[in-house]
Parts: sequence; structure tokens; C-alpha cells
Amino acid sequence: MLKHYKKAVIGLFMMVFSHIAIAGEVEVLHWWTSAGEVRALNALKLLLVEQGHSWKDFSVAGGGGDNAMAVLRSRLLSGVPPTAAHGKGGHIKEWGKLGLLANLDQIADEQNWPEILPTFVNELMKYNGQYVAVPVNIHRINWLWVNAPLLQQANVAVPTTIEAFWQAADKLKKAGIIPLAHGDQPWQNSILFEMLLLGMTDSHFFKKAFIDFDAMSLSSEKIVNVFAALRKLKQYMDPDIANRDWDDATHMVIQGKAAMQIMGDWAKGEFTAVNKQLGKDVLCLPVPSTDKHYSYVIDSFIMFKITDAENKQAQIALAKQMLNKNFQQVFNLSKGSIPARQDMNMDAFDICAKESVKAVQTVGNGNVLPNISIGMATSIYTQTAIAEVVTHFFRNDTISPEQAAKQLVNAVKASL
Ligand code: GAL
Repeated sequence: MLKHYKKAVIGLFMMVFSHIAIAGEVEVLHWWTSAGEVRALNALKLLLVEQGHSWKDFSVAGGGGDNAMAVLRSRLLSGVPPTAAHGKGGHIKEWGKLGLLANLDQIADEQNWPEILPTFVNELMKYNGQYVAVPVNIHRINWLWVNAPLLQQANVAVPTTIEAFWQAADKLKKAGIIPLAHGDQPWQNSILFEMLLLGMTDSHFFKKAFIDFDAMSLSSEKIVNVFAALRKLKQYMDPDIANRDWDDATHMVIQGKAAMQIMGDWAKGEFTAVNKQLGKDVLCLPVPSTDKHYSYVIDSFIMFKITDAENKQAQIALAKQMLNKNFQQVFNLSKGSIPARQDMNMDAFDICAKESVKAVQTVGNGNVLPNISIGMATSIYTQTAIAEVVTHFFRNDTISPEQAAKQLVNAVKASL
């Protein structure tokens, strides 16, 4: 794999040196600050800088991007957009409504995006039928990361169903091992809620409740059960979860301080950054009982309308390179995701990436679901409303699952 990686990096250098352009600057907002994220982002910076343009980093720390989105909103409202911002499907619509987005139709046409990108990715990059963002990857969120030696040591089988997960977690706990690494931050709590929801219900219900926001579904017994399961899950975490960053939780699994983590495959970037071997040291499995689903997040760069001619050139240069095959390989090897392009050779990728490609192609269109905790389907307001209700419940054991379900309906309704 290392050989492929080096070859791809050299290719990337050659590609960027062959371009001569007018120098401009792109200011890029993002929240990629963990080891794997920084490594991936550097590939993007390199692309731009080697073409003679400059990269102005606008990084707002905070996994999941809640902080970054708040900062972006205030920049946009004060009329000074960055050149590009890392953002998600639901967010694209929001900035589109304000008329702030650049039109990328020409680039999409030249590069034949409808052909090289899966349909669901294509649609997410548009506002009002126009391309306004460039996708760099596809992340799968319903992953369980497992420290394999720890489970072996405790003689615990890798759980593939929720029932088996409770049994495995009980055994680990008895053996003095923290079963689940987690950070109590709203977006991470929301991910756990969403993963339990996928495991305990089905795609049809998921869409009715969280895409159509059907009030009956949102307050149903099924949701009450998911809240109850979330409370149960909490007992398998350590007492120091408050405000822990997701990558610190990943490092607990790396260091053998916890056995498992439920997290999108950006976690894989942390494992590979410390040379953990996937499939041996660390296992990747679908979150128990969710193997028939593919919960996705597409990382894309939303391009804003720019008036300065040179900066505009730099923006176009950046947008044009993001779907380059070589870049897609280098970037995604570091990031833990799979390429957004569907015509890539996957030989250089690891077992988890290959599994991810297989899953997205085989679970069936109806089971490829936008992740709601990371803003793929909802507006920022609805995303925040869900995360707040879930977090309030998660932190307060006096709130019953029934009360939480009622709060969820009201909060979602108020956010629409
Ligand atoms: C997500 C993003 C991922 C990863 C994660 C943690 O929103 O899609 O690329 O960076 O946050 O920061």
C-alpha cells in the first residue's frame, strides 16, 4: 500500500508542476485538524500551491463542523465569504438560498460529472440545478472500530447484532475493559442515536421520521426504544466522556484503553496515521445490525461567488483538481473515506475501503442513506435541534425516553 501511496504522491507532484496559472489566493474554511485529516488536507493544499496559487487556511477546530458552520454563517452574513468552505448537502441549500454560490457547471461539464460521480453524489452538489460544490469523497458512518487483540484477550466475539453487542459489552466490562470509547459532544451523541436508530428500525422508517419529519413517526414507540437503548449504551462508556474529541476517543482504541468506537471512517485516518494494520490490529465492521444500510457523508467544498479575477482563477484551479484521479487516491488513502469518483481502481486501498465500496454498490439505493447528524439531509437548524434533544437526554438521566421523544417532535417542528 505504501508503494502505491508514494507513486500516487509523485504523480500528484508531476500533475501540479505541469500547470502554469495566474497567481491568486483561495481562503478555505474547514475543520480538519486531526492527524488523518491534516494529512489529507495537505494533499489539497499541495495541489493549489504547486500551481502558483496560495492557500489561506481558515480552520475552525471542532469535529463534525458545528463550530465551523457557526463561523461561516457570521462571515456570510457580514458579506465576506471565503473562497471555498468544507460543507455538506443540507448546508449547500442554505447558502444557495442566499444567492452566494459560484456556478461550476462548466467544470462539471468538461469533467463529465454526471458520468464519473454516482447519481446521489451528483444531486447533492447542485443548488437549483446548478453545480455549486465539488465532492472529494464518500464517508461511511455506520462503522464499528474494534481493537482486535483486546477482544481476543477477553475472549469476546466481534458483535454483528445489537443483541450481541450488549453481550460483548457486558463481558468486556466485567473484564475491566471500557467497551465503548465516546466523546459527549452533541454531534457525536447524535451519531450514536442515529446508528441505534438504523440498527433498530429500517430505511423506510428512517426516511419517514428524519427526511419527511412525520410527527407520528418521530414520537412513536420506535423512537422511545432508541432513546432507551442510547441510555443503556452510556453505561458501557468511561466516566470521562465530557467534551472528549472524537479523535481522542479513537486514540483510546488505538492505545487499548477502550475496545470499540462507533464513528465514521475518518477514524480510519487516525489508525493508519499510527500504522495500525486494518483487519488485524483494528477491525472495521458495520455498526451492529446495520449491515444492510450505508449511512453516508460526502465531504464537499462549496464555492462562493468571488469578484477578484485572480482569486477566481485560483478557485477554478482548485475546483478543477479535486476530482483528478490521482488526487482522489492520495486524499482518500489519508482521509479514510472512498473516492467520490466511481471509476477508480481500488487496488491501493485497504480492506475497509474495499468493503465500503462493495456496501455502497450492493445495499440497494433505498438503503444508501444521508447522515442526519452531519447535515447531509437536513438544514443546520434541524440538525442542531436533533443533536440538542439527544444530548439533553444523554446528559440527564431524569428525562425519560418518552419525554425525549416528545421533545424531539417539538424541536424538529420548530426548526423546519
Ligand atoms: C465530519 C466530516 C469528516 C470528518 C469529521 C470529524 O463532518 O465529514 O470529514 O472530518 O467531521 O471532524
